[in-house]
Amino acid sequence: MKVLYNNQFKNRDEVVIDIEDRGYQFGDGIYEVMRVYNRNVFTLDEHLARFVRSAAELKIQLPYSVEDIKTMLLELVEQNHLEEGSIYVQITRGTSMRNHSFPAQSVSPVLIAYPLPKKNPSQEQQQGIKMKLVEDMRWLRCDIKSLNLLYNVMAKQEALDHQCYEALLHRNGTITEGSSTNFFAVKDGKLYTHPANNLILNGITRLEIRKLCEANDMTMIEKELTINGIESFDEAFITSTTLEIVPVTQIDDTVIGQGEPGEMTKRLQMLFQALI
Ligand code: PDD
Repeated sequence: MKVLYNNQFKNRDEVVIDIEDRGYQFGDGIYEVMRVYNRNVFTLDEHLARFVRSAAELKIQLPYSVEDIKTMLLELVEQNHLEEGSIYVQITRGTSMRNHSFPAQSVSPVLIAYPLPKKNPSQEQQQGIKMKLVEDMRWLRCDIKSLNLLYNVMAKQEALDHQCYEALLHRNGTITEGSSTNFFAVKDGKLYTHPANNLILNGITRLEIRKLCEANDMTMIEKELTINGIESFDEAFITSTTLEIVPVTQIDDTVIGQGEPGEMTKRLQMLFQALI
């Protein structure tokens, strides 16, 4: 496997991350996961725009231009002959003696990127999944795609421990998102999802859903849903880069709709497949 390490391509075992890398010690960095379909990086520009935004919010100076990062990521796909799969890219604030304050300007951020194997979520996409309600106890800047995923990890495991595929996070009864997915519900023919504010990650797949709705005469409303309203959902689904669109058939003990993927969900799945 070829790995991008700063602006060089190396074999995986040649890359060594320092014990004082701030990503390792503080989770002081950001990341993106992008899908590769037929050697094309899907929505690459949108992912890069979010990467730049996350870096800016955390005052991490990107050491390369967006154009250069784009060129290097495309080269990574080529070097790995990656037909189908994903690429993971992250940047940390760099390596410096352990200290909470930012290191000197001379310390450069550390960029890495490498291919992730293809995940095959087709069973989940066809049959749907169960979700487990978990209280959202993350920090209040969930809009930044930071490396600090500890609570997301805890929530996902809590869901798995209860034979559910994904956690459905709620903050004081308001549904926010999944541990690594955005959440949508259909009520009376309209699609609802949490507004893109500091409480959720504004998913790139979420943005694609919005575009699909606009182009196909479907209504998507960005409005908070509450856990009290779960019983009134006709359909529900989650989205992410790696899962695309996965129907939700049950939340805790509540069966959603008929307990199978809903019509609007299936229509969006079909429209999404046509995009890629
Ligand atoms: N997760 N919400 C959270 C908290 C996420 O971590 C993700 C993505 C999403 C969906 O965003 P997008 O559609 O841009 O993938 C929503 C990635 C895939 C991950 O951490 O593996």
